Amino acid sequence: MKFYITTPIYYVNDIPHVGHSYTTIAADILARWKRLNNYDVFFLTGTDEHGAKIVAAAKEKGKTALELCDEMSAKFREAWDLLNISNTDFVRTTEQRHVLAVDKVVQTLFDKGFIFSRKYEGLYCVGCERFYAQKDLDENGCCHFHKTKPVLQSEENYFFKLSSFQGSLLERITDKNHKEHIDIQPEERRNEIIGKLKLGLEDVSFSRSAIEWGIPLPFDKKQTVYVWIDALINYVTGIGYPVDETKFQKFWPADVHLMAKDILWFHSVIWSAILIGADLPLPKKVYSHGFFTLNGNKMSKSLGNVISPKELVDKYGVDAARYLTVTLIPFGPDGDISWQGLTLKYNTDLANNLGNLISRTIKMAEKYFDLLVPQTTPNLWLAKNVATLLQESFAPNMDNIQLHKAAESLQNAITLVNKQIETDAPWKLARTDMVKLATCIYSYLQATDIIAMHLLPFMPTLSEEIWRITGATGSIIETAKKYFTDRIIPETGFSVAGSQLRVSGILFPRVTE
Ligand code: MSP
Repeated sequence: MKFYITTPIYYVNDIPHVGHSYTTIAADILARWKRLNNYDVFFLTGTDEHGAKIVAAAKEKGKTALELCDEMSAKFREAWDLLNISNTDFVRTTEQRHVLAVDKVVQTLFDKGFIFSRKYEGLYCVGCERFYAQKDLDENGCCHFHKTKPVLQSEENYFFKLSSFQGSLLERITDKNHKEHIDIQPEERRNEIIGKLKLGLEDVSFSRSAIEWGIPLPFDKKQTVYVWIDALINYVTGIGYPVDETKFQKFWPADVHLMAKDILWFHSVIWSAILIGADLPLPKKVYSHGFFTLNGNKMSKSLGNVISPKELVDKYGVDAARYLTVTLIPFGPDGDISWQGLTLKYNTDLANNLGNLISRTIKMAEKYFDLLVPQTTPNLWLAKNVATLLQESFAPNMDNIQLHKAAESLQNAITLVNKQIETDAPWKLARTDMVKLATCIYSYLQATDIIAMHLLPFMPTLSEEIWRITGATGSIIETAKKYFTDRIIPETGFSVAGSQLRVSGILFPRVTE
């Protein structure tokens, strides 16, 4: 089975910050989870490089638009490398393959009569790269996102007949049994979209005559494709449209388009209408998570309050940075983050709970069993309890994109084992009952192996390390792929009696403010 997941393609006028990382890490975690569940995964991300905003940013820096795009797109790639993002491809909208895809979609829409020319005057927000009606602005006449006044623009443009798609969109969004059903999540956002759709749709701008930095319309080279239409088409470019028919047929439609709520309308309504118009199937799910603020403020380069992926990695390490970014606030609603909050969560979940489980189990194995998995009758009840807990609460939450809940269930599993250690009090058993002690240590190691397999999508490197530390054999990824298919724990467990445990430095050193 295939699974195609995407992130938005990010504007190159900004540096990659924790807001972009949030979506990208979340998508990576889902991609890794699906791979472990034996899906053939295509995971796409990239950069959005055309439009007025990019031209303005390049001018400010004294660069050509392409120079800025090359430089900034590379920064996004570097950030994703640093964060160990496993994307299959990376689309840049300035690439020739993307021009081919845009040409094809745009020409199809034109040929089918969905594009028309008209004189237009409207309020344009360059930050959002879109026109707004007066009623969409705040009490000062500013855009809600950028708090700036949109500029009045007037030009002869091509328009897309969005209004003619109202009925077909409503049908596909509201009817779960429709064969082209598009599942918009979370529920409240879906209802907002439906509410807005019911009010009626206005036709939208499809081209710009004044912006040269874009893809020329195939049927009128004097105009360029409006940057949002250009950008949305990246989702088909990335899987080979229109050149590689086999790859495209294999992966389209997308299983999940992931993004924040700021761009949900573009993805659920405009993109869907383009696809219906071009006779292409609709994405199965569009999932929008919340927007987060930093210490109560919007993150922005100019305010100087952004957290970069590098800062996070320097402070907590790559795997912990990934874990913290996606678990600090519930996945869906808006939330606020702070360095204090990050450090507190790091110390609670990782240094204390997980770190403690590993370090004390290893210390006991070292002290009493020469760093070998104890030779004892296999005792898997604790591992089985952990496995059941995770099967019931981790897997469904991952499948429903409730990443914070999946992480919470992992923490519950870790706590379960830590509590068992307290109850067993192995340090007392060491004086009275070495046979029972061996069984106990053995069972902690087996339970930790189950936890490590579930931790893989969040912490790909440290989970492997934990797997080695506990003396588990074989590749954790291959073992997990098999385990997630049949859910069978071998009779001897994953850490076979007599195997060597590998000591390692402290996995999660405590962090102070
Ligand atoms: N280029 C468009 C997207 C085109 S997709 C066809 C764009 N780019 S963006 O660089 O502004 O990225 C917006 C996305 O970045 C959000 O939808 C979200 O995925 C992520 N985020 C950026 N800042 C964020 C927060 N402060 N909080 C949560 N997500 C954030 O829009």
